[in-house]
Formats: sequence, structure tokens, C-alpha cells
Amino acid sequence: MQNTLDKMRADWDARARENARYYVNTATESWTDEAFFATGERTVAEEILTDMTNICQGREPKQMKVLEIGCGAGRVTRALANLFGEVHAVDVSGEMADRAKRALEGHPHAHVYQNNGMDLSIVPGENFDFAFSTIVFQHIPSRDVIENYVREVSRLLRPGGLFKFQVQGDTTFKSAEDDTWLGVSYSDDEAVGMANRCGFEPRYRHGAGEQYFWLWFFKK
Ligand SMILES: C[S@@+](CC[C@H](N)C(=O)[O-])C[C@H]1O[C@@H](n2cnc3c(N)ncnc32)[C@H](O)[C@@H]1O
Repeated sequence: MQNTLDKMRADWDARARENARYYVNTATESWTDEAFFATGERTVAEEILTDMTNICQGREPKQMKVLEIGCGAGRVTRALANLFGEVHAVDVSGEMADRAKRALEGHPHAHVYQNNGMDLSIVPGENFDFAFSTIVFQHIPSRDVIENYVREVSRLLRPGGLFKFQVQGDTTFKSAEDDTWLGVSYSDDEAVGMANRCGFEPRYRHGAGEQYFWLWFFKK
């Protein structure tokens, strides 16, 4: 496990030093600030603003405390901070986390941490209202690491709170054990099993069999 964690950190630090925004979003190698952060606003528009009933459950977004796993250069984190009252985000890469911190200057209610790549012990507090992660678990080559994150989110969410996240759903390819670009994939049954083991109800799933397999896990 430690070798995998070390390799995830080293590989993502190297990617960040080479061209962080490209490895976060490979649509272009030369992002302007404006275009890069606009894609984060688009992610929030598509995955969050369309889904406020499940996410907010009657709460005011500005009163909500949210968590993001794998914040990269702060692309989505900044958009989350524009919407929610308190945002805490982790990334295994210190280089990525530094870029996210710079992206969030002027957002004092957003907090970015470099974590150990497998748990949320660095995040203060509990009773989070909502947790989110996109294009992160698809890169993680270890089911143990992903399941540990799901268990950790369960620890930090309030009962009823939602963890909405994306995993690789295309089970036709097999990742190498130490590949930090092409991670592990999940079938629908595997996703349901993980939810049940980690204290979640896997109420909705969308995109089974595809790269963007979205899961709505509600904390029991
Ligand atoms: C493709 S980027 C996506 C960043 C961000 N979620 C976004 O949509 O803009 C993947 C990010 O996941 C982070 N990451 C990879 N493995 C991780 C792990 N085990 N724990 C935390 N972050 C991880 C990488 O450092 C990188 O910043």
C-alpha cells in the first residue's frame, strides 16, 4: 500500500510540475485562467446545480459544509467555494494542493490540504453536509484506497448526507497495479457492495459500463 501511495504522490507532483492544468483537464495544453476555471463552473452547473434537491435537502448552500476529494489545481473547488458556505478539499499531491491554494486566495472559507492519499484524517471537524469527487478515483489503481476514502467520507458526513462521486465504470480494461493514470473500474454490483460495506445507501447510479459512472451514496 505505501508504495502505491508514494507513487501516486510522485506521479501527480511530476504531472503538476509539467503542466498541472493539462493533466487535470486534457482538452488543451494551454489553459487561460478564465477558461480553466470556467470548466469548473460548468462541472458544478452540470453535476450540482441540476441536483440541488439531493445535495442540499432543504438547506441553504451558504450554510453547508462540503468536502472534495482530489481537488487538483482547484478547478472545481473554486466553483464549490462560490456556491457553498465552507469547503474543505484534499489532494495527495502537494504541487496540486499548492496550485489549488493559490486559486482559492480570496476565498477564506475554502481550505485545501495535502493528504496521505488514502484517508481524511487531516480534515478538521465532522458533520459535513455533502461530499463530491470527479475524475479522481478513475486514476487510483487500488480498490483498498478507494474503499478507504468511501469509509472516511461516511465517517465525516452527517446522517442522510450525500457523497456524489464518479468512478471508472468501463470494466473491459484492466489497469496495471501501479498505474496512476488508468485506475481500477467498478461494475454496478461492485459499487453497491462498496456502499453497503461503508455505511451508505447507493440510492442512484448512472453510467454503469462507462467512464463516467456516477454514484449517489447517502449516509445511513
Ligand atoms: C485529473 S485530476 C482532477 C482534479 C479535480 N478533481 C478536477 O476535476 O479538476 C486528478 C487529481 O486527483 C489527485 N489524486 C490522485 N490520486 C489521489 C489520491 N489517492 N488521493 C487524493 N488525491 C488523489 C491528483 O493529485 C489530481 O490532482
